[in-house]
Amino acid sequence: MSQVQIAGAVQDVDSTPEVEITNLADTPELVPLLAQWHHSHWGHLTGACTIEKRIKRLNAHLQRHAIPTTFVAWKDGKTIGNASLVANEIAALSEWLPWLANVYVLPEYRRHGTGAQLVQRVAAEAIELGYPRLYLYTLDQMPFYESMNWQLSHPRPHRGQEMSVMVRDLIAHPPPPVKR
Ligand SMILES: CC(C)(COP(=O)(O)OP(=O)(O)OC[C@H]1O[C@@H](n2cnc3c(N)ncnc32)[C@H](O)[C@@H]1OP(=O)(O)O)[C@@H](O)C(=O)NCCC(=O)NCCS
Repeated sequence: MSQVQIAGAVQDVDSTPEVEITNLADTPELVPLLAQWHHSHWGHLTGACTIEKRIKRLNAHLQRHAIPTTFVAWKDGKTIGNASLVANEIAALSEWLPWLANVYVLPEYRRHGTGAQLVQRVAAEAIELGYPRLYLYTLDQMPFYESMNWQLSHPRPHRGQEMSVMVRDLIAHPPPPVKR
């Protein structure tokens, strides 16, 4: 935030530059960093999943207009977040696809709209690929998704935790078109 003087009054101006969203395929060298983020944040939920396994899994995301894929958020040349579109998150719900996954923003960049921008980018990709609905599961972020037209499908236990499965109707609530 910076300040400007308008008619004698000093006002705050949000001079924050736009966050840019790119495809991970543009910067494959980021795979180990994203794997580290995922491991630090979700490692306790996914037991046996090592960083090496996460790197291997993310290497399969290095593609455009196909599933799986990952989007990266940038600000001032720094990687600040990511989100993925994947085929399968919960084996018992394998008939539902695709899924939003790996939504993560660095703590110091949160509450400025980056998470929402990443979710919208993944939703836009899903609809471009012809999917009318997008799914996710979350442990504790229901309010964040509810603010973006996601609805609770059902709570269910997953890996020993109570998770909420949520769905977004992409036809009723389409994401804004992608700026290219
Ligand atoms: C969840 C997360 C991605 C949100 O990222 P963010 O950049 O802070 O989100 P945004 O700033 O785009 O917020 C979008 C909307 O959700 C709201 N929101 C964000 N986090 C929220 C929270 N914890 N509780 C309630 N509302 C929240 C914002 O107020 C905003 O609503 P508004 O547009 O009406 O103001 C981020 O907190 C994060 O990385 N958390 C750790 C990883 C995680 O839990 N990921 C989700 C896994 S399911």
